[in-house]
This record gives sequence, C-alpha cells and structure tokens, in this order.
Amino acid sequence: MLYFAPISRWKGISLARYARITGWGKYLPEKVLTNKDLERLVDTTEAWILARTGIKERRIAADDETASSMAVHAARQALKVAKLSPDSLDLVITATCTPDLIFPASAALVQHELGAENAAAFDLNAACSGFIYALATASQFIASGTYTNILVLGSEVYSRILDWQDRSTCILFGDGAGAVVMQASDTPPGSLNFVLGNDGSGVDLIYTPGPCGTNKGPYYIKMSGSEVFKFAVNIICLATRQVAKSANLDLKDIELIVPHQANTRIIKAAAKFLEIPAGKFFVNVDKYGNTSAASVPIALCEAVEAGRLRNGDHVVLVGFGGGLSWAAMLLEWGAGRKL
Ligand code: UT7
Repeated sequence: MLYFAPISRWKGISLARYARITGWGKYLPEKVLTNKDLERLVDTTEAWILARTGIKERRIAADDETASSMAVHAARQALKVAKLSPDSLDLVITATCTPDLIFPASAALVQHELGAENAAAFDLNAACSGFIYALATASQFIASGTYTNILVLGSEVYSRILDWQDRSTCILFGDGAGAVVMQASDTPPGSLNFVLGNDGSGVDLIYTPGPCGTNKGPYYIKMSGSEVFKFAVNIICLATRQVAKSANLDLKDIELIVPHQANTRIIKAAAKFLEIPAGKFFVNVDKYGNTSAASVPIALCEAVEAGRLRNGDHVVLVGFGGGLSWAAMLLEWGAGRKL
C-alpha cells in the first residue's frame, strides 16, 4: 500500500507540514567481536563469513547495556545535532525487538532517562524494518498536525537472542543503536513518501520465540537464510521502485540508498537488478554486522557524517526482515526553516 505525505489538515487549516530529519546519532558498544573470534566459537572461518556476508566484525553490548541504554546515547547525539532539548519532544518511538522488558516499552525508559517529560512513548516491533516503520509513523503524526518534535530510535541487543552454537545465525548479527529527530516544517525539504508492507505467510522464515508463546525456549533467533535472502533482494527492488514512482521520480534521481545492513551480497544483487551503481548504496555492514532495527539509522548517521548527503538530495531508506516485513521511505534531504 502507498501513503502520500505531507499534505494534511492541521488545526483545521489546510497546511503542508513537512517532516524533516534535523538530528541524527548512533551508539555502538565498545566490545568488538571479529570473524577470527567466531572461529573459536563455531565451525566457521573468517574467510567464509567475509565472502558470504561482507561482515568483518560486529559489536557486542556489555552486560549492563540494553536497548534503552544504548538508545539514550544515540538520542542525546541526535538531540544535540537538532539543537533540541528533551523537554521539547512530543513523542519517543523506539523500534526494537530486543526490548529491556516485555513491558513497559523501552521508549518509556528512554523518555525517563532523557527527561523528555512532555513526550508520549511507545515501542514499535516490525523486526529489521522497524525503524522505517517508526519513521513513517512519526511523519504521519507530523503531517496530521498532532506533533512537532519526534525522536525515532532503532536499538537492538541481538547478542542476547543468538544461539552462539548456531553458525548460520550467530555470525550475522550485532548490537547497537541509532536515532533521528524528526521535526515539522512548513517548507520543504522533508519526507516525501513511504511504502510499508508485510507478508505474514513468511513468519516462520525468521523469528524468535518468546516466553509468552507456547514455545518453552530457549529463545533464540531461527532463520531460513537462503529464503530470507531471496525475499530481501526482491523486496528491496520492489519497495525502492514503488517509493520512487509514488513521488514521480526516476531511479536515476535518487542520490543515495541506505538499505538495511544484512549482507553485502543482498545489497549488490539489488543494485544489479535495479541497474543502480552499487556505489549509490551506503554500506557499513562490514563494521557492525546486522543490527536489525538499528541498522538503517546507524547507516544514515554515518552517511551524513561521511558527507554522502547534500541539501536537495533524494535518499531512499529501505528495510526488510521478520514478518516478513518491508519498508521504504523517500526523503528530500536538507536543512530549512522549521515551524
Ligand atoms: O535482517 C534480515 C536477517 N537475515 C538476513 O538477511 C539473512 C539473509 N541470508 C543470508 O545472508 C545468507 O543466506 C547467509 C549468510 C545466512 C547464508 O549464506 P548462503 O550463501 O545462503 O549459505 P547457505 O545457507 O546456502 O549455506 C551454504 C553452506 C551450507 O553447507 P552445505 O549444506 O552446503 O554443506 C551451510 O551449512 O554453508 C554452510 N554454512 C557455513 N559454513 C561456514 C552456513 N553457515 C556457515 C558458517 N560458516 N558460518
């Protein structure tokens, strides 16, 4: 399904409210786990992991770190970039499937820790697509005129749901957090469109059981890697085409694509099918592995810091994962006058 922003009603007046990213931040735990380290844990090789995934190393949270504590670090950076104080936030959304607690939401812990006392807070679970789902949700709260300043987070501690004896999964994932501040503006640029989707028939292709279901545990991630791989390549292509078309843009008008960081082979295959130069895809999976809902905001943050985005550029964020879920968002990048 396609949704169109940003024209909406605002306080009874027809008014365009653009939802613009004005701040970004990331947090990666200190501990580095290399492919060489994994050779000592499971029957694998450094060379296999690099060749089949593009991953060289990933970060592992310390015992006292959680999705909320990492999100707070990323959030503080994003608020600093946006020059916004926590008490100006209207809403905190944390995309995570590794929350600190079953309830309340990790976003509630983040809200308290930041002192965002005027903000509503909730978590959103759309697995690895979660951050873009959350960003789309934030853009709609802004387009409707409901909220002005929203903190959107992706934060994960997959190291706690990995079976460290399963070589087909434990080599892929890492921990980390990313954040953006999204603010209302009466002038462009901002978010243009998004595409969200899900195919529940693929639930069993990648999932983690939990204590509230019928499964007695252990609660480790299960994945049919090659099935997810094929789905990922197809859906990146489909969602990217859809979101560009919905804004009447050609793929050549897109300056940068920030995909979910799961595997460089997935990204290269998508680039090939889309006939987009692979260099237009931002890649940092080599450093952090797959950080699920945190991967897109961490990558976006690094893309900005690396000078890969200029004012007026069109950027597509695109993700996929458990659900089977997918999400793409098209943004026109740049600073401008806020409301
Ligand atoms: O956020 C979304 C999350 N998930 C993904 O994006 C995952 C998508 N899938 C993938 O990235 C790839 O499917 C994997 C990296 C997981 C696996 O790569 P593959 O090229 O699809 O390998 P495969 O599963 O077809 O396995 C090929 C062989 C198998 O051996 P046999 O049966 O051919 O003898 C596996 O047992 O590779 C073996 N294998 C390994 N060998 C060394 C699987 N994992 C490993 C390993 N080290 N870590």
